Amino acid sequence: MLQDLLTSLEDLPISQEITDNPIWFPLLEATHVLSLGLVVGAVLFLDLRLMGLFARSESVTRAARVIPLIWIAFALALISGALMFAPAATRYLANTAFQVKLGLILLAGLNMLLLHQGAWRRLADWDEGAPPILARISGAISLLAWIAVVILGRLVPFTQ
Ligand code: HEM
Repeated sequence: MLQDLLTSLEDLPISQEITDNPIWFPLLEATHVLSLGLVVGAVLFLDLRLMGLFARSESVTRAARVIPLIWIAFALALISGALMFAPAATRYLANTAFQVKLGLILLAGLNMLLLHQGAWRRLADWDEGAPPILARISGAISLLAWIAVVILGRLVPFTQ
């Protein structure tokens, strides 16, 4: 069932084009690197603010203005990543570094959801001051998860 899905991804005309024309992979990889640089750079800035370690004179609301940029850059990372993934879907999904990378992206998403359901709801109480412990923990988990995603992404071609 899963194998059928992976094979049909590999057989898509766009996957064939990406395999046949050597210009596509480097272009997609460059797009991926630029967009993930924006995602990770902006997320780490926000994480450090949430941990109370950086830009403490700025309110969290002000620091959070980068969030729309994070979503746009994440969409670009997702599209470019999916286009590199599709032509060799079976090989990538069997790769341990790739599996852990996707798992950590999900973990970072879950961590963000928990923050929004928890400490973020009472943001008015700590917007200008020291963040509560749960916000700091959430920032630390996010920071570590995104750094690990970058390392694992780089490890994919060197892992089975
Ligand atoms: C914002 C989230 C993401 C980050 C931080 C990230 C990180 C990375 C990094 C650091 C690389 C290595 C780039 C290089 O060495 O030139 C990479 C490559 C790659 N990423 Fe991502 N990635 C993300 C999302 C995704 C997603 C969602 C997918 C799949 C749907 C994906 C699929 C790939 C593929 C297929 C490669 C090429 C691996 C190879 O060298 O063969 N990435 N990623």
